[in-house]
Parts: sequence; structure tokens; C-alpha cells
Amino acid sequence: DWTPDAFVDTTVEELKQKIGDDKVILGLSGGVDSSVAAMLLHKAIGKHLYCIFVNNGLLRKNEFEDVLHQYKDMGLNVKGVDASARFLDALEGESDPEKKRKIIGRVFIEVFDDEAHQIENVKWLAQGTIYPDRIESLSASGGPSAVIKSHHNVGGLPDYMNLKIVEPLHLLFKDEVRRVGKSIGMEDFILGRHPFPGPGLGIRILGDITKEKVSILQEVDAIFIEGLKKWNLYDKVWQAGAMLLPVNSVGVMGDERTYEKCVALRAVESTDGMTADWVNLPYEFLQKTSNDIINKVKGVNRVVYDISSKPPATIEWE
Ligand code: XMP
Repeated sequence: DWTPDAFVDTTVEELKQKIGDDKVILGLSGGVDSSVAAMLLHKAIGKHLYCIFVNNGLLRKNEFEDVLHQYKDMGLNVKGVDASARFLDALEGESDPEKKRKIIGRVFIEVFDDEAHQIENVKWLAQGTIYPDRIESLSASGGPSAVIKSHHNVGGLPDYMNLKIVEPLHLLFKDEVRRVGKSIGMEDFILGRHPFPGPGLGIRILGDITKEKVSILQEVDAIFIEGLKKWNLYDKVWQAGAMLLPVNSVGVMGDERTYEKCVALRAVESTDGMTADWVNLPYEFLQKTSNDIINKVKGVNRVVYDISSKPPATIEWE
């Protein structure tokens, strides 16, 4: 019988055996998976675990500062690296979804590699990969099912880094990861968080990415997510976020005609992200959220709600 406590005990023991006195690096994403993986390794090898938290400039509003702080409180040996400019430069002018993902993945590896080289004698790379990540990536790399998206956190680093890979969660589903986190006393701030994709807002800004678009979407997303929390809806939803669409539409403001951006809100129910249903959010909530967004976020004059399920509509729009 699988229990989180037993999983923690056996996994920590196995990690100790496997890693011994070696040093390990791990990229934290702010999400549940990498955080739980880090805590398990921390239990097993303590200060020999070096965590790196990269700001790719595509995180949620205040995410980098808040999460970094939280990790330090958890006792992790973590370094925050602000590489926003490097990512945005590399993405400039690119609007193809798969190319954007590849660029983000590549720059992440470059940044991570630079950091890893500053730590002497690292032998292992730890990743928070979970079971569904692998399935989706396998089918994307030539499996019989339709091509899905390239998940940049699967597949690891280039060979020249010469690191052995350790993935303590590779057989778990998301709900099991949460239960493991709970059993090791992880705070709800991280445990209860919605999943957030590695490429971040980069795949929620349709078309090319600019700093200005990122900050518009960060504001919209923050209003939506804060609203969900205030209305006690956050925990009832598996994942939520906003997409910035590459269309402008006409609006009026006083006597003025506007021609501004449209955002789509998406909230889904799911157990593992493989299938998903859109959530029937209360009209009053949608009404208030839409008003807040349009009133507070300069450059947005229209809000729509995504009522598509997966399949076929993936959770992310790119
Ligand atoms: P889709 O859009 O494929 O997303 O329905 C399913 C789940 O996976 C997340 N997602 C990603 N996570 N790197 C990640 O770490 C990625 O490249 C990526 N793409 C999608 C998505 O947010 C949803 O939870």
C-alpha cells in the first residue's frame, strides 16, 4: 500500500545510498514538484544540495521575490539568479510557439550551466520530473498519439555537463506529490499552488514577447488569481491563468475610441493535466474580475473566458 510517509522514508534512504557524499544541483521552479524533490534531497544530503532558482522574466507578478524568500525559510541552500534580460533578448521577435519553448529551454540550460560551473565537483542533476511529464514528452517525440508540446524540463541537460540524473518523483502523479509534500510539513503557500508551466507567461503571450506585454499579463494574472483567492475559489480550481491574445479590438472610453488588447481567462479542473474541464466560475466573480482588469490594467479593453475542455484544447494556449 502506497503511503506518503513510507515513500518519504524509502526515498530519503535510497537517495542517501545513491548519492553518498556527492554534490547535487537542482533547478527550483517555484512549483510543487521541484520543491518537493528539493526537500527530499535536502533531508537526504543537506548542504550538499545546491538549488538554483532562475528568474526567466516570465514568472507571475512578484513570484521571484516571494518564492525565493519562502525557499530560504524552508532551509534550502538556494541561489536566486535574475536572468530576465537574457531570456527576453533571446526571445525577441519570435512568435512561433514551439520555437519560443525551445529558446526558453535553451537559455534556461545556459543559465543553469553557468551557475553549475561555479559549484565545484557537482556530480548529479536532480529534477522534479513526475510521471505525466514523461508520458506527454514521449508521445511528443514520435509516439503514436498526436504531437503534444515539448516540455523543456524533461530530457535533462546536454551531455557535456556530464551529470548523472536523479528524479525522486518520477513515478508519482501530482496528487501524490502534494501528499508527500504535506507529510514532510511543506507549507500550503507552495503545496496548494496551481501548476505553472516552465516557460511561464511566455506560452501565455500569444505571438512575440515583449517586456511590456509581460507586465500587462502579470497585472491581469495577479488580479485574476488574487480574486480567486478572495472568493475562496482558488483551491477549487486545479489551474488558472490568463492569456494575452495577439488581437486588438475596438472599445470606447468616455468619448474616446480605443483599440486595445484582449485577454482570455482560463480556469480548469483536472487531476493530472492530461485531461481538463473548464470551470463553471460564478458569473458575479467573472463580472467583478473583468471590470477590475479593464479598469486597472492599461492597454486591455476586453476580457473573455475560455470554455473549452482538453482534449482537444490544451490548458495552455501555446
Ligand atoms: P497543456 O497545455 O499541455 O498543459 O494542456 C498540461 C499541463 O502542463 C503544463 N505545461 C508545462 N509544464 N513545462 C512545464 O513544466 C512546459 O513546457 C509545459 N507546458 C505545459 C501546463 O501548465 C498544464 O499544467
